Amino acid sequence: MKHPEIEKRIKDLLGKMTLEEKVGQLHQAGGSIVGAFDLSLEEILTMVQDGRMTEEEAHKMISEAKRDWHEDDLRAGRIGSYLGLVGSEEMNRMQHIAVEETRLGIPLINGFDVIHGFRTITPIPLAESCAWDMDLWEHTARMSAEEAAAAGIHMTFSPMVDVSKDPRWGRIAESAGEDALLNGLYGEAKVKGYQTDDLARHDALAACVKHFAAYGAAEGGRDYNRVDMSPQRFEEEYLPSYERAVKAGARAVMPAFNDLSGVPCSVNKKLLTDILRKRWGFDGMTISDANAIAECINHGIAADRRDAARQALNAGMDMDMTSGCFLDHVKELVETDEVSMERLDEAVGDILRLKFELGLFDDPYRSDAEREKAAMLTPAHRALAREAARKSMVLLKNDGLLPLKEGLRIGLAGALASDGDEMCGTWAGIVQPGDCRSIRDGLEVEQISYDRVTEGPLPDCDVFLCAIGEGKNESGEAASRASLELRDEDIALLKRLKASGKPVVAVVFAGRPLCLGPAIECAGAILMAWHPGTEAGPAILDLLFGRANPSARLTAGFPAATGQCPSLYYDHIRTGRPAGKFKYTSKYLDAPVEPLFPFGFGLSYTDYQYSDISASQTKDGIHAEITVQNTGDRAGDEIVQCYFRDPVARRVRPVRKLAAFEKIALRPGESKRVSFDIPDTALGYFDPDMNFIIDDGLIEIHIGANARDTLRADVNFIRENQAPAANTSRP
Ligand code: GLC
Repeated sequence: MKHPEIEKRIKDLLGKMTLEEKVGQLHQAGGSIVGAFDLSLEEILTMVQDGRMTEEEAHKMISEAKRDWHEDDLRAGRIGSYLGLVGSEEMNRMQHIAVEETRLGIPLINGFDVIHGFRTITPIPLAESCAWDMDLWEHTARMSAEEAAAAGIHMTFSPMVDVSKDPRWGRIAESAGEDALLNGLYGEAKVKGYQTDDLARHDALAACVKHFAAYGAAEGGRDYNRVDMSPQRFEEEYLPSYERAVKAGARAVMPAFNDLSGVPCSVNKKLLTDILRKRWGFDGMTISDANAIAECINHGIAADRRDAARQALNAGMDMDMTSGCFLDHVKELVETDEVSMERLDEAVGDILRLKFELGLFDDPYRSDAEREKAAMLTPAHRALAREAARKSMVLLKNDGLLPLKEGLRIGLAGALASDGDEMCGTWAGIVQPGDCRSIRDGLEVEQISYDRVTEGPLPDCDVFLCAIGEGKNESGEAASRASLELRDEDIALLKRLKASGKPVVAVVFAGRPLCLGPAIECAGAILMAWHPGTEAGPAILDLLFGRANPSARLTAGFPAATGQCPSLYYDHIRTGRPAGKFKYTSKYLDAPVEPLFPFGFGLSYTDYQYSDISASQTKDGIHAEITVQNTGDRAGDEIVQCYFRDPVARRVRPVRKLAAFEKIALRPGESKRVSFDIPDTALGYFDPDMNFIIDDGLIEIHIGANARDTLRADVNFIRENQAPAANTSRP
């Protein structure tokens, strides 16, 4: 929402700015690598590609390299923002140049990827989404913002709300999984946590919703690949999560690298102007992804950098992240009227607005070294990271082995069991070596004796804890996989332990669903730990020893075979020949159709019984109820999930669609009547002519512990004076 005082200050300032100064505000600079080898990032990457340098060496060089923040360019008014400048003293030094040594003293805005923690790392978003807990998501975002803002960060490139239905895509790790509602709620909670209701607070961060839009639908699960879908599917399954996060008040949006049905998002006016600004009323700032404007040349949409700059700015892009296309070409584009001064002023105005809202003009130095040091990795932050990890790990199998009794002799197996640095996963902020506690660290802190499984004879123990899965670099950006099978050494280790006849608990670390068939065969219990962050080990032991009862539920289905991707997701359609025993039905010869573990699945140390489902139409939707009882002997949290199905419609509809959920605490024996109110708009969809409609007729309500195991109640849904909504603009 625009504030009159700020709008007046923007107008006054624009009136004073030269064309060059306006162009400078559009440019976000990165720090050039000027390490000992004085290599550019491109040269380093080339050396990695042709084998003259390992990825580890490159990562070490980049992370340790001194950076040149181009101070002369800053003094000349050619930089409006930085990417990745970390440290309050360094930020204050650069801010001082911007504020005191440039003609108009316009402050910098500093952006960084605070995705799941800054120094204290919480579970990766895919893990944390399995908590189905908006309060937790907001609290961990708040903690991240306290740490990052203290280190001189003003804006985070988060939340990522890309619906991710294909676990081959490495960035599913950064998402809230395969469902639109969950991704939207996750994004909304994160925006509130980062920004609070006062962006000028010294511990607030501006949120940047990304990647707009449908980046998670990359063909083949291969990162940066094309995205092509019907406008109906885009509007129903992919757009809602961005809309909810934007309408939660996010002050920035980042278009995605991919094209959307042929038009790259960076130059997609329908996305950046028609939907984002005109339909949703967004008045914040758009910022490209890294180098994405220049990459429109690779897409084959722009003839050169100048053409890319012209198309992006005219489509609705405000700030250019590091490509330099705007800095190099916008002045000339305006002088030749290929970009209007009005459009340029809009873009600069969006950027200045965010800087005013952050309070940077009146209060440009928001932190200092003392505050920065005090903010990091506090006991309270570690405690929250441990709580978040406990609530994010999903118990997938338990044949009675868990919870473990204290005093058992443990055989600890798998390299990931003792490597804390691998626990934080992708985009792990500024985590330092040694920050994160592995399972071994947890055992040692608690003085629980264990024997390490080595290549030699197996140790004499009562139970094996076997850590398997992916390291932190095997998911995230540019980390797609063509196979989701467990690695051979993990399978061999599981089989070796099973052959001992001793019980095996598999703890799986990963940034994505994997094919866990071998773990199901060899382990009596399986805990999906994902990449749980700083307090990985202690949280895992909390769950394995029953100090906490697992409550997390999957937000993405687990495949039995990679070939099931990408059509594994729960909200699939029936087809004309739903999978069945008859040969000529939609299935595979060599793999099941259903996931190994369905969306919404997760076990507890207690049991829950669902009964007495009811559903009825109300004046503006459907009211549904169900009774849930804790029939076990332990207290627990259950995530009651309410789905619906529209069995006869004017387009094929999903067999299930999550409409609502509620997380409830139940003591042993306790029952609760849980109710849901589904607005009729949630039942709507786009007809073949892109009219948004809500059908009359039967609506099935399915409520249960996951997308597969539900009770059903039917509603004969009749809306008065049904008329198609006005035709929405096509994406
Ligand atoms: C990356 C990612 C984006 C991130 C940006 C800045 O390429 O696509 O998510 O925010 O660059 O690091």
